[in-house]
Amino acid sequence: MEVSFKHVTLSYDQKNEILHDMDFVIPSGKLIALLGPSGGGKSTTLNLISGLLQPSQGEIFFGSENVTKQDALKRGVGMVFQNYALYPHLTVLDNIIFPMKMAKIPKKIRQEKALALAKLVRVMPQINQKLAALSGGQQQRVAIARALAKEPTLLLLDEPLSNLDARLRVEMREEIRRIQIATGVTTIFVTHDQNEALHVADQIMVLNEGIVQQFGATQTLYTNPINQFVAEFIGEPRLNVIPVQALRTAVGGIFGTGAAQIERLGIRAEAFSLKPMAQPHIQIPIEINQIQYFGQEQRIDLQLNGYQVIANQMESEHQKLGKTMGYVPIDQIYGFDAKGRRIYAEQSREVQHA
Ligand SMILES: Nc1ncnc2c1ncn2[C@@H]1O[C@H](COP(=O)(O)OP(=O)(O)O)[C@@H](O)[C@H]1O
Ligand SMILES: [Mg+2]
Repeated sequence: MEVSFKHVTLSYDQKNEILHDMDFVIPSGKLIALLGPSGGGKSTTLNLISGLLQPSQGEIFFGSENVTKQDALKRGVGMVFQNYALYPHLTVLDNIIFPMKMAKIPKKIRQEKALALAKLVRVMPQINQKLAALSGGQQQRVAIARALAKEPTLLLLDEPLSNLDARLRVEMREEIRRIQIATGVTTIFVTHDQNEALHVADQIMVLNEGIVQQFGATQTLYTNPINQFVAEFIGEPRLNVIPVQALRTAVGGIFGTGAAQIERLGIRAEAFSLKPMAQPHIQIPIEINQIQYFGQEQRIDLQLNGYQVIANQMESEHQKLGKTMGYVPIDQIYGFDAKGRRIYAEQSREVQHA
């Protein structure tokens, strides 16, 4: 189901606007991550989609149908929350069956459907156990099966993995991806974890302070962030941000007439190299202060014209402490103006509009 917001705003108290002019189309059949820091408006947005909240202004469409005034029940979305909200004293099977019972689906059919869903989310071995006896990950599988039992128009997941330990979170995000592909149901997955969003989603919508910062294909947000907020929020280690003075001589050549507006530059850790590359690049004197390894991860602390930055993929055969020459491809140098808006390099401007 395609979901469109047309100039939607939301205020809880009719005074402070929490969500500002949200205008977007979520395509049908995809997995979308709604990503942003706590308090950014993710749950509020999800509740507008589910019908638990109504917009202060603007309209919401499911496909071509205007659902702005429609209540939650009629919209038929499936929801899964951080806290499982299941019935601990019921069995796995009865938990999955519950919404179908409410919908008065005949016994035989709901039994068959519940078993098929239990297979889909892989809780058949636990099917007759009481929910309270299951691990967190298993409970979240049951919650997803239950949400799918209503054959929802949309599946909405609000930080569903936040209560799980790190390894289980990785396993479950892959499970959610698998289940979404298997069912094809349009899924909106809320998370504050950029790494989780990158791994799970087809597209990411970044939300901060009630404003959609950028909405696009997962990889596009990483390689072509529209502003400093998105560039810093997505990616690990965090984007290096340095004052424009650090590379003043190179900046004019890269950004041309746009250079005057630039206040800060952003360079990802992996952009630094110790030898020239084939694509257009800059060459800068650097000083390597520290080289560390953490398992397969590498962290190199270096100074660039006196500014501290972190690199993580420099050619190991050339690495040594002290002064040397560093290289950065010019399409991996982001320019930001005083408000954090991205100023594009002359070369990539055409790519940008293509
Ligand atoms: N029921 C509510 N009444 C008033 N303000 C709320 C309510 N729910 C959330 N807010 C406020 O709305 C903003 C967005 O919250 P929320 O949508 O929960 O963000 P997120 O899910 O991204 O953490 C926050 O400033 C929060 O304090
Ligand atoms: Mg929330």
